Amino acid sequence: MNLKPCIPREAIDEIVRRLAAGINSDYSGRTPLLVGVLKGAFLFLSDLVRKLDIEHEIDFIQTSCYGHRDTPAADVLIVRDITADLSGRDVIIVEDIIDRGHTAKALMKYFSDRGAASIRLCTLLKREGGAPELKADYTGAIIGPGFVVGYGMDYKERLRGLPGLYTVQEEGEQWMDLPGS
Ligand code: IMP
Ligand code: MG
Repeated sequence: MNLKPCIPREAIDEIVRRLAAGINSDYSGRTPLLVGVLKGAFLFLSDLVRKLDIEHEIDFIQTSCYGHRDTPAADVLIVRDITADLSGRDVIIVEDIIDRGHTAKALMKYFSDRGAASIRLCTLLKREGGAPELKADYTGAIIGPGFVVGYGMDYKERLRGLPGLYTVQEEGEQWMDLPGS
């Protein structure tokens, strides 16, 4: 498969460091619950928490997959739920990418209904022009329309282990051919 480099590993490190610094200063003296949105955010969350110097807890939730990208917000399915009790908690949703914003909006409502005291949104990537009304509290990078893989994100469940971020080939563009891909 042909892939085009999007964000190299070293730049991701810098982004994660910046996001963690923001969380460290905003949540000083508190113990937020970081909820990673599976599966795409598993590497991002694991790197992010290793750069936190505040007390924190983690949990995970999994929602319906990218195949349902036309589903309205109310229909986002939770296929694996968190185990933590949310009442009175400061929740930080940790997403790989906010595309149309359906997942993030549905999760904010879901966590609010379950009694979270505060909910913030931390995303590695935000799609340019997608969900302009949805402002994440911590945004790593804004990206264009290409489908992104690597660093936890998949193309048909593959390529999650690529250390950097790449975009998948489209007709008529100049691409590099990755060895072994
Ligand atoms: P949204 O609900 O439209 O914001 O979509 C969010 C989810 O779709 C993300 O959490 C990803 O799991 C998935 N997604 C959106 N764009 C991409 C992409 O370019 N690559 C891989 N997954 C994506
Ligand atoms: Mg996701």
